[in-house]
Amino acid sequence: MEKIVSLCKRRGFIFQSSEIYGGLNGLWDYGPLGVELKRNLKNYWWRVMVHERDDVVGMDGSILMNRAVWKASGHEETFSDPMVDCRSCKARLRADQVIDKKGVRQCPNCGGKDLTEPRAFNLMFKTYVGATEDESSMTYLRPETAQAIFVQFKTVLEVSRKKLPFGIAQVGKAFRNEINPRNFTFRSREFEQMELEYFCRAEEGMRLLDYWLKERLKFYERIGISRGKLHVREVPEEERAFYSKANYDIEYDFPFGLQELEGVAYRTDYDLSQHQKASGKSLEYFDEETKQKFIPHVVEPSAGVDRTVLALICEAYAEDQAPDEKRKMETRVVLRFHPRMAPIKCGIFPLLKNNAQLVEKAKEIVDLLRPHMYVFYDESGAIGRRYRRQDEIGTPFGVTVDFETLGEKDATLRNTVTLRDRDSMKQRRVAIGELAGTLLADIT
Ligand code: GAP
Repeated sequence: MEKIVSLCKRRGFIFQSSEIYGGLNGLWDYGPLGVELKRNLKNYWWRVMVHERDDVVGMDGSILMNRAVWKASGHEETFSDPMVDCRSCKARLRADQVIDKKGVRQCPNCGGKDLTEPRAFNLMFKTYVGATEDESSMTYLRPETAQAIFVQFKTVLEVSRKKLPFGIAQVGKAFRNEINPRNFTFRSREFEQMELEYFCRAEEGMRLLDYWLKERLKFYERIGISRGKLHVREVPEEERAFYSKANYDIEYDFPFGLQELEGVAYRTDYDLSQHQKASGKSLEYFDEETKQKFIPHVVEPSAGVDRTVLALICEAYAEDQAPDEKRKMETRVVLRFHPRMAPIKCGIFPLLKNNAQLVEKAKEIVDLLRPHMYVFYDESGAIGRRYRRQDEIGTPFGVTVDFETLGEKDATLRNTVTLRDRDSMKQRRVAIGELAGTLLADIT
């Protein structure tokens, strides 16, 4: 993890938030490359979950909602973690982090045994809406995006004219005042979720839960996460919310252990029923065939953007051996991102920066590719060093404009370039006119 955290900072993936003021625990900023990786992930999720399907539509709800939402959903009452204080070192701990040594509770920080009894700590951040700061103006930053979908269920159903089963998808920020943020971005206090609420008839719930588990596993493979590093955990009844009929966690084998990436949960009709009861507004579905009215059930695949970005970086990180300028083998750090996810798709390099023709041709290629993908032009330093810089940030392709491109050595090679593959480091000649098509086949 240390190497990964350091690379993320050095190359502009992820930084500590408000770093010049000493940071703020559990909060992170994404730099120029991190933001591209994150966008590629979110866009691909949206494409697979919304655009490529007839039965899902999207929405984008507000982060602040009426406090009544959080009362009805049960979050105000029960969205808490048990917290324990260590009286010796003053550490605040989640109760599940306390070490149990033969029945004696011990602080994982200082080894102290003087610990308080666990007490519930609500994870929602409070805030006030308007000029007065009292109970009547209080609400919370949303701890999940899902509730906006439930409270707008009827409106979206009406405007989209969908029939069951159908889903509403949303990507957005969520906030939790985690007791112990840790493992880099894994447990943060501000993070993003990609959630689908898939509404169905009660009798379809269990089948659709299994269907969505399979779809979501396919998704991870399509973004370059190997199946061997994913683990499906069936959440036992005692760990599930009382209303949940079944629940899977999709876990990833991070360097700090097997940890949850996504939950695929069968939430029954609990959320819609709660909101119908509390608001007094009907959230029922009218089945035109049977002429029956009922509250749909829901299956929810809920994934974390930040955790998936971290998994992508962990999965991609590799060190191998590659020849340097003098053909001596050296260690190469490379991020083997799937081309779909890579922040920059192609590096474009004129062999020499002081040759006007090479530079002009390379810039023509930049203009040619830019409408299709994010590319990076680099003319500084030896070509080998330029390749290494791109390898380290995971750019899957490199295009070099050399004298053959100008047709100086062999007229048949005019307007061809060297296309280098990041992983194999193999090079081949490709006609400039075929470049966009060749690269697009891999990155879309
Ligand atoms: N709507 C259901 C829901 O919010 P959850 O299991 O609490 O379920 C879903 O959260 C996903 O959100 C998790 O699988 C994880 O990927 C992400 N997530 C939850 N808490 C997080 C945190 N503190 N930091 C980063 N990601 C988090």
